[in-house]
Amino acid sequence: MIPESYIQELLHRVDVVDLIDGYVPLKKAGANFAACCPFHSEKSPSFTVSPTKQFYHCFGCGAHGSAISFLMEYSGLGFIDAIKELSGRVGLQVPEDEGRRAHDGPKVTALTEVMARAAKYYYEQLKNSEKAIAYLKGRGVSGEIAQKFGIGYAPDGWQNLGAAFNDYTIAELQVAGLVIKNEQGRLYDRFRDRVMFPIMNQKGEVIAFGGRVMGEGEPKYLNSPETPLFEKGREVFGLPQARAALREKDTAIVVEGYMDVVALAQHGVGNAVATLGTATTATHVQKLLRQVDRIVYCFDGDNAGRKAAWRALENSLEALPEQKSIGFVFLPDGEDPDSFVRSQGTEAFERMITQATPLSDFLLRELATHCDLTSAEGKAKLVAEAKPLLGRLQTPLLRLQLVKRLAEASGFSQAEVERLCDLRPIARPAPARAPRQAPSLLRPLLRLVLQKPELAQRLPLESLPKNTAEARAVRHLCATILAAGDPPPAYATLLERLRGNEDEAIFREAAADLMQQPFADEDIDAEFDGAIERLAESDHKRAFAILQEKIQKLGVAGLSSEEKQQYLQVLGTRGKAS
Ligand code: UTP
Ligand code: MN
Repeated sequence: MIPESYIQELLHRVDVVDLIDGYVPLKKAGANFAACCPFHSEKSPSFTVSPTKQFYHCFGCGAHGSAISFLMEYSGLGFIDAIKELSGRVGLQVPEDEGRRAHDGPKVTALTEVMARAAKYYYEQLKNSEKAIAYLKGRGVSGEIAQKFGIGYAPDGWQNLGAAFNDYTIAELQVAGLVIKNEQGRLYDRFRDRVMFPIMNQKGEVIAFGGRVMGEGEPKYLNSPETPLFEKGREVFGLPQARAALREKDTAIVVEGYMDVVALAQHGVGNAVATLGTATTATHVQKLLRQVDRIVYCFDGDNAGRKAAWRALENSLEALPEQKSIGFVFLPDGEDPDSFVRSQGTEAFERMITQATPLSDFLLRELATHCDLTSAEGKAKLVAEAKPLLGRLQTPLLRLQLVKRLAEASGFSQAEVERLCDLRPIARPAPARAPRQAPSLLRPLLRLVLQKPELAQRLPLESLPKNTAEARAVRHLCATILAAGDPPPAYATLLERLRGNEDEAIFREAAADLMQQPFADEDIDAEFDGAIERLAESDHKRAFAILQEKIQKLGVAGLSSEEKQQYLQVLGTRGKAS
């Protein structure tokens, strides 16, 4: 493990502009530098590098990071190797293992270590279980593929992990979702007598498991709960294993099941990943489209499969940059990719992927199934139903194509379709973004703190809303800055610390906004004070709404005397404000 202080020092010495310019010639563009993005194909430059903040951001595909992540993504290096390479360039010596724990955020690192150790334990147990080996053999999984995916076995019994950890009672085991505490306070293994599929992040760290029963039993797959390491809607199964094939084929095949990914790999189709029992999210799409130009969803041909495909379509629209494409494959009824590739073979499967239904075809076909296109009403309905979908698209070309098709199908002119759908011109390829919520008070705060980390100290964390992702992001950012001590870390260093955080996308967006419109140094403090004031106001509003609701339900008598006090107080401040 490399100490944080070293990473900070390294990023301080390296110039990200110099580094990137060596691979992709940069041109000056205002305060920043720009080039055509090396991570996706494009004709006009949306890849931007900030010399002051020492990071890059692509407004086309969302690629984002520091000098370290650039090397990782561009040269396919691992984190450690990227550090070594950069160190060599500036003549620094990477420190050895010392200070291993002292410098790291204890929590996430400790959890990652716990997961790695558990994965190793399960992996070793597989060798001792004839039953599990027979099960995998029966499903056509070779030893080589089992190894590639780190497939393991959780033995039957209640506290087996005690054999892998000196102390079975450490909190990390429970936080990581490996050990459960029952009502009597007894601890026991979550996974028992199951074949274990480790789920890894892009770095190849184990962040969760899926465990399959071998016979009958519910649930068929038991998954890790969401933990600080693992958020379902962001992760896919099989990503690090697929990396080389993704690069080679420039296509990601998205399937539903663990075993689909494994069976495809077994048959030489290495570029498949699985969503984890959830719908495909915009974050999934964004993540994959940073590595490939094309996604093909491969779902069952039944009703559930079509529904899943439609959800995937909806969530893909806004994350779809220009020059990227999405296709859909529907398997024959009753088949999944695992059974299909085993019965029909690799070639037949690859052929289906090549001939996938384009997004626009699938979209129109699905809409047309519930609009009677022989009637005027049906045609109008078609356009009305297409409206919200078109509105999500950020890419002028695909939108134009769809408008044309809608015009053909509905008999309206193109201009009429555009007017009916309330379409405004798209100025330039907009960034691939996760769905945005209503404009928030927290975005500007996040930008302000990113631009001037000292502000973290002055932020009243108690006024933040309780459970929004943005509030969580602000809290995490402040905690990271405060933990780093004095002087506060620069953005590039922060980036490295926030890497892999569940709210990475939020930080990335805020940094990208900052790159385009930094606050003037002399305005920052006033902006910050204003933002804090608005935050306090909305905190009051929130408290007021909660009390108001309670009063409606229970009457004023239903309030505790403390709540009554609070109510009067909030009424008072509201009176002043309005
Ligand atoms: P399926 O029920 O289609 O199973 O679930 P499968 O992938 O074909 O599994 P095998 O071939 O019988 O082993 C698809 C995916 O949904 C999630 C898993 O990610 C699974 O791979 N799932 C399913 C669960 O998380 N829990 C379950 O109980 C079932
Ligand atoms: Mn299956």
